[in-house]
Amino acid sequence: MVYAAFRSIGAYVPQKTLTNEDLTRMVDTSDEWITKRTGIKERHIATDDEFTSDLGLKAAQKALERSGIAKEDIDMVVCATISPDYFCMPSTATIIATKLGIKNATAFDISAACTGFVYILSIAKAFIESGMKKNVLIIGAEKLSAITDYSDRGTCILFGDGAGAAVISATENKEEAIIDVHTSADGEYADLLMTPNGGSGSAHDALDKEAAGCFMQMKGNETFKVAVRTLTQDVKDILETNNITSESIKHFVPHQANYRIIKAVGDALKMQPEQVVLTVAKYGNTSGASIPMAINDIYEEGRLEAGDLMLLDAFGGGLTWGSALVLFSPLQ
Ligand code: UT7
Repeated sequence: MVYAAFRSIGAYVPQKTLTNEDLTRMVDTSDEWITKRTGIKERHIATDDEFTSDLGLKAAQKALERSGIAKEDIDMVVCATISPDYFCMPSTATIIATKLGIKNATAFDISAACTGFVYILSIAKAFIESGMKKNVLIIGAEKLSAITDYSDRGTCILFGDGAGAAVISATENKEEAIIDVHTSADGEYADLLMTPNGGSGSAHDALDKEAAGCFMQMKGNETFKVAVRTLTQDVKDILETNNITSESIKHFVPHQANYRIIKAVGDALKMQPEQVVLTVAKYGNTSGASIPMAINDIYEEGRLEAGDLMLLDAFGGGLTWGSALVLFSPLQ
């Protein structure tokens, strides 16, 4: 039997920051409001000539280097993004793979918004366990500043840019395998968080970015309530299904959308503060990149050790949501 193991992590954030103070000069808001309602203090913003693939490439280079697996042995590259370099093609994954010198691998993007990393984790696991692939590079990369409306205070205070990547590889040792991944979606709630125009549903003459509404729009408060309800249930389910108690979780790594959502779900699971990984204050919401960026933070702080059990959870546009129970199993 073949299993899938989580071998390495890497991340990258662009240098420039956008603080709450900066935002007060752009929209009617305050540092106090943003901090109290979201926990965010600043986010990183890419430059005009820095694309999603550039962020993803730097994260992927680190993950590859740390994996001990040669780029020649990577047979699939998957990127989760809602802010790809190009609207339709080529995919961001093919650009990253080519810049890394990975040849002839399967490469594609997926769109699952903030749940993107959990989705690509499940894809990597499924391809490896079926025997179709052996070493999969997964990347969550976002330049959300490109699709953010900086005149809308309900959304522009939330989002930032960044990327995270991981290498998942085949193992025969069940003790080091990813335990489980859940992914779900419900299009009934599509209008809670969307970029309404710019796709095949738009008239050709409405493709001007601002007029066409290609920026993100969100019904924040409704999204918040559905997020807390859905995530709490999903995380309880994955723990119960796998007979794992929340005390056994070393690191609870939630999608970093809002401190209050993280706190509500963490409290419902009776997580202790030292179990909960929090990066929302410094990166804001980086959608599909937020979970691997958070894992990278604890790795670089020396807090993530071989054999540690992580619980991941995420929620985002679609609506999509998911959770995963993952052991950190480096090869080196
Ligand atoms: O990652 C994908 C999933 N996304 C999420 O999970 C995000 C979920 N939603 C949220 O994080 C929160 O709903 C927000 C942070 C977006 C908003 O917080 P809230 O506590 O739900 O506020 P609200 O939308 O209910 O608005 C409360 C008030 C309103 O004013 P009135 O109508 O009470 O006078 C808003 O107009 O706060 C006002 N408001 C602001 N005030 C200052 C909204 N945005 C701002 C702002 N600064 N930036």
